Amino acid sequence: MIINLQTKFKPGTPGTILLPVTNKAGKIQPEVLTELAALTGQPAHFIDQCFQGGTKEIFPLVTPEAIYILLGLGEQPDFRSTSKTFQQLAAKHSKLLSSALYLHFGLQPNLDSLPYLAEAAVNGLWQGTYQLGQHKSGEPTPHLLHDEATTLTVIAASDHHTALQKGTERAIVIAEAQRGIMHLIDSPANLKTPQHLARFAENSAQKYKYSTTVWTKAQIQAAGMGGLLGVNQGSPDPPVFIVMEYKGTSQNGRLPKVGLVGKGVTFDTGGLSLKPSNNMHYMKSDMGGAAAVLGTLEVAARLELPVHLIGIVPSTDNSVDAHALKPSDVITTYGGKTIEIIDTDAEGRLILADGLGYMVANYKPDILIDLATLTGSSVRTLGYLAAALFSNDDQLAHHLEQAGQHCGERVWRLPLWEEYGDDMKSDVADIKNLSARPVAGAITAAKFLEFFTDSHPSWAHLDIAGAAFGDTPHGQGKAATGYGVRLLTEFLEGLVK
Ligand code: BES
Ligand code: ZN
Ligand code: ZN
Repeated sequence: MIINLQTKFKPGTPGTILLPVTNKAGKIQPEVLTELAALTGQPAHFIDQCFQGGTKEIFPLVTPEAIYILLGLGEQPDFRSTSKTFQQLAAKHSKLLSSALYLHFGLQPNLDSLPYLAEAAVNGLWQGTYQLGQHKSGEPTPHLLHDEATTLTVIAASDHHTALQKGTERAIVIAEAQRGIMHLIDSPANLKTPQHLARFAENSAQKYKYSTTVWTKAQIQAAGMGGLLGVNQGSPDPPVFIVMEYKGTSQNGRLPKVGLVGKGVTFDTGGLSLKPSNNMHYMKSDMGGAAAVLGTLEVAARLELPVHLIGIVPSTDNSVDAHALKPSDVITTYGGKTIEIIDTDAEGRLILADGLGYMVANYKPDILIDLATLTGSSVRTLGYLAAALFSNDDQLAHHLEQAGQHCGERVWRLPLWEEYGDDMKSDVADIKNLSARPVAGAITAAKFLEFFTDSHPSWAHLDIAGAAFGDTPHGQGKAATGYGVRLLTEFLEGLVK
């Protein structure tokens, strides 16, 4: 797909014309209605009757020359609803699209933050081309937007063009990373070993010029990463420890160093504390945190963000055999802290203990953020609409909240009060991996992770169990959402503004 910019649209031009429309008190403004009628050749009262411009409303008008698709943005269009509407369009209504596409913002030139909404639209469209049926037999039908001959012409006043140029390029880069990680998250467990994750990181690093080092099992053993090795004990595939680094050029003399750690459990059976079998198949997505880290490194390198980024992904599956980790085992993590295993299904925190410990001791980042599909408790608390945010740094939490608010990948902060940590004390080791009480599971998990940050002054933990994998326009069941890449990109950009 090629993107062009234009200031005017000639009525009667053949193709598919996408018309984003806002409303007020549930009604389309009369002057917009008049313009829509003139453009499409349909009576205004007919349009008014069929389409109210509400959020995510999609209404196609088919004429002999062209297909006009009215897309509702609601009263106060934001990034989230705009990109979701366009994602839905590309994913579910691709038959309405044609190789000459127009994104017509000209009917509402005074839209607040028009370039950002156009970015949302293009991001949504491009993300919406993601296809789940990769493993169906027969020839796949490529999405029309992937055709090189397809053009998308954005119509808007010329004073927006510089911002539009930058915004649409950024939209494509981010959407490509999102699609890449959605594919990785949705990949079945038999085709997604830790080695597969490592290859993804190596390929991306080579393509976009940043560095990736993949540690072998022997190196992980030599480093004493007992958390990662413990979870891996019952698995036929060896673990990997992926270290990625991207160093941008400093801006205003500043180059913030940010460490990202992602949970890379390629499949979580629960181990000996076996999960129930209904919905266990969804546990292929238990590397959603790792995927967000992989995608963010790729975007940072492609957009040449002025940051120094280190990404760490400890990866293994959590399987069962005679060698598997057992409740009551005591393991020693990187740096020497010991953990009493109460439940082998609380495995994510074990591998993150090594990842966080290694990051803090060896890279000393200014800011430390981990992402993990860590607890069912966070899903019960917030559902699928937000990640649970934990932080010991109010400013960092605020910046993440702002980024989430702006780009629609929401976060919601939960407390790290000291008393919650009491439930994680062990009689036999430094800490245990499961609270004695069946309450506040997301918070006690965060308290566990905090223990392995070595009192890092600026740490945030994002429990993305609900946000990373849920309902999408791409299929019937749950699937990857691509959560985290845009949030972290906006957060990183905000650091140097
Ligand atoms: N991977 C799961 C968490 C999860 C649950 C992710 C649902 C996505 C959807 C994690 O390893 C896990 O099993 N957590 C347990 C923890 C419990 C044993 C303390 C949970 O949340 O039930
Ligand atoms: Zn688990
Ligand atoms: Zn897990």
